[in-house]
Amino acid sequence: EVYPSLKRFEHFKRLTSDDIVHFKQVLDNDDNLVLTADLDFFNEDHLRKYKGQSSLVLKPKTTEQVSKILKYCNENSLPVVPQSGNTGLVGGSNPVFDEIVLSLANLNKIRSFDNVSGILKADAGVILENADAFLAENGFIFPLDLGAKGSCFIGGNVATNAGGLRLLRYGSLHGSVLGLEVVLPDGTVLNSLNSLRKDNTGFDLKQLFIGSEGTLGIITGVSVLCPTRPKAVNVAFLGVESYEAVQKAFTESKNYLSEILSAFEFMDLNSQKLSKEFLKQKSHPLDEEHPFYILIETSGSNKDHDDVKLESFLEYAMENEIVSDGVVAQDETQLKTLWNWRESVSEASTIYGGVYKYDVSIPIQDLYRLVEDVKVRLSDFNLIGETEEFPVKDAIGYGHIGDGNLHLNVAVRRYSKEVESCLEPFVYEWIKKHNGSISAEHGLGFQKKNYIGYSKSDIEINLMKQLKKLYDPKLILNPYKYINFDK
Ligand code: FAD
Ligand code: MLT
Ligand code: ZN
Repeated sequence: EVYPSLKRFEHFKRLTSDDIVHFKQVLDNDDNLVLTADLDFFNEDHLRKYKGQSSLVLKPKTTEQVSKILKYCNENSLPVVPQSGNTGLVGGSNPVFDEIVLSLANLNKIRSFDNVSGILKADAGVILENADAFLAENGFIFPLDLGAKGSCFIGGNVATNAGGLRLLRYGSLHGSVLGLEVVLPDGTVLNSLNSLRKDNTGFDLKQLFIGSEGTLGIITGVSVLCPTRPKAVNVAFLGVESYEAVQKAFTESKNYLSEILSAFEFMDLNSQKLSKEFLKQKSHPLDEEHPFYILIETSGSNKDHDDVKLESFLEYAMENEIVSDGVVAQDETQLKTLWNWRESVSEASTIYGGVYKYDVSIPIQDLYRLVEDVKVRLSDFNLIGETEEFPVKDAIGYGHIGDGNLHLNVAVRRYSKEVESCLEPFVYEWIKKHNGSISAEHGLGFQKKNYIGYSKSDIEINLMKQLKKLYDPKLILNPYKYINFDK
């Protein structure tokens, strides 16, 4: 029972065969676009924690089709879950009961690219890696990168306001998305696919959809400002002896590398041990073990200039014992390998059976203490250990430290209520006490909908509820998620 104590909204209609006939007509009677069997992939989330019972997946090819589908669903009170790559980590992209899944997978065309301004316009269903490969051919880069790039869609990224590995350099999607095409719950197409960097005419409505996780409208097109692709990229992978030294390395890397610093990521020792098992590697980039590792990336336009800067930073950091060991990528392959040791932690955290993921923002000085305190608590409750009898294998910390974003992953052998109630609301209370956010970048989805109050005030939550009522009065879009919207 993955959705205990939850009631299907009574005002939602049950799907009938007439509805399916109607959707088939809208989708040109193409059987590949109306799926009624083998729906496990769509019903289940990436972490296999949540499983809904949808019996219908629609895969429109055009914005007009999305509009027709939503109009019909709104008129008939049929609930809909928008789904992109289904890589979300908070159970937001899957149905809870029998909601229709609307997959954006077939809206996958690049619409236009302007190589003077760097503005890309594309369908929401373009896979992030494909968008970036297209941009690379034109000498540009997508201003977002994350471990799920091979599967997630740019529309899904915008819907979750994904942060990722280079937010430090390129900022959040709230800055780089210039416009959106969105289908509202009643089928209205809101076209604001702008190419303007500056536009102060009225409310910036597109911002509402960025990070709204499919609760206000379905994003069908994205206009995004893309930077020039850096010609010189370098990666240093460093071993560090204390969390204080990690923070020092961050401050000094900004001093020494300034405009060429493009990522500052950190991982603790146990996260690297998990990656080693996951990647089935005998050795690690650094021979000796260190309590912490950092990955620093530089991106610039002149390799010699950037190399000199990186070398002088590393010299300073070694001489002053901020960093005790390190390796710098010598070629593109090594660079990818070093990044892989960071990016693989997310998947590695699941190898023992499952994982409880907490994605939090906290002022940097307090960040790692959350991992330590959680370990103590798990041990006080006798839940963590090396042998099978303990449900928890390990608690690891890693993430985008340059952005004040920690990923606390509790790797478990099995999901259990005992572990869950040991961690929650403890972790959320800890975060509130330290003035943090309970969701730095993954969103609320199903997992965190009951906990938004730890990061947002009642006034803010009420305004959100009013907005939902305005945009989606019948609550058909992504119901039971985000916050407790009810009629
Ligand atoms: P989905 O998972 O399909 O959907 C996510 C949410 O958006 C759902 O609520 C869905 O209903 C809604 N939605 C999807 N498409 C639309 C649309 N077109 N219109 C309206 N609503 C929509 N996240 C980060 O922020 N940073 C990371 O570094 C990061 N690393 C990851 C690494 C791995 C290995 C994995 C598996 C995940 C990672 N994630 C990360 C989480 C996830 O990849 C992101 O949240 C991603 O942006 C989700 O995109 P998606 O296409 O898979 O969307
Ligand atoms: C990452 O940065 O690797 C992911 O956002 C973390 C996760 O999977 O928890
Ligand atoms: Zn992350």
